[in-house]
Amino acid sequence: MGDIAENKGSFYSNAEVYWKEVPPTVDGMLGGYGSISNIDINGSKAFLQKFLGEGEGKTSPGCALDCGAGIGRISKRLLLPLFKTVDLVDVTQEFLDKAKPYLGDDSKRVGHYFCSGLQEFVPESGRYDVIWIQWVIGHLTDDHLVDFLRRCQKALRPNGLVVIKDNVSYEGVVPDDVDSSVCRDLEIVHRLVARAGLQIMHEEQQADFPKEIYQVHTLALR
Ligand SMILES: C[S@@+](CC[C@H](N)C(=O)[O-])C[C@H]1O[C@@H](n2cnc3c(N)ncnc32)[C@H](O)[C@@H]1O
Repeated sequence: MGDIAENKGSFYSNAEVYWKEVPPTVDGMLGGYGSISNIDINGSKAFLQKFLGEGEGKTSPGCALDCGAGIGRISKRLLLPLFKTVDLVDVTQEFLDKAKPYLGDDSKRVGHYFCSGLQEFVPESGRYDVIWIQWVIGHLTDDHLVDFLRRCQKALRPNGLVVIKDNVSYEGVVPDDVDSSVCRDLEIVHRLVARAGLQIMHEEQQADFPKEIYQVHTLALR
């Protein structure tokens, strides 16, 4: 994304200030589009179930990491129902504080709540079957995203997967000065994934989202 955000020292601090003001609700996590959460989760479930299982080459349902987890919207409806243990990482402590009551009884199966920016976070080597990164890559600079993806690859168990699900622009990098993020086109995302040394195992566009929002793509990587 070159000179837009990367050179602005305030890129990360502005995002932190923005998220601190957002209510810890599903609607808050989705920028007022709480109504699309069901479609999102059902699409993600169908996507992930293609890989999960106990046989040869299948991804085990052991431990998942929810990156940019917020209050745990994805952990609650997607990851905790499918995995024995889930860890959450987010830069906003207020969201993680809300996650425990929001997840209810299933919060007993949360291993760790990590409060950290992904640009600094080092996931434990060899711990995760799935690392789910949704609606947060736009908060990382290109170099930080590539480095984070490399660390994620090291954190995978055998047959593990890194999944990116995010908005994609039609062309180029579109900055958002309100939440201090960027939206990249699919070709740019592919290039950053390749730079990180990851391969795309499968890719889909999320169907049935409102026409006025960005297209959302899901990429399974390892
Ligand atoms: C659009 S919300 C998405 C939350 C969740 N992934 C979901 O889909 O429900 C973005 C989340 O990313 C978090 N975030 C923003 N910048 C971050 C960073 N640099 N590192 C980790 N989390 C970040 C925010 O606190 C917020 O919880």
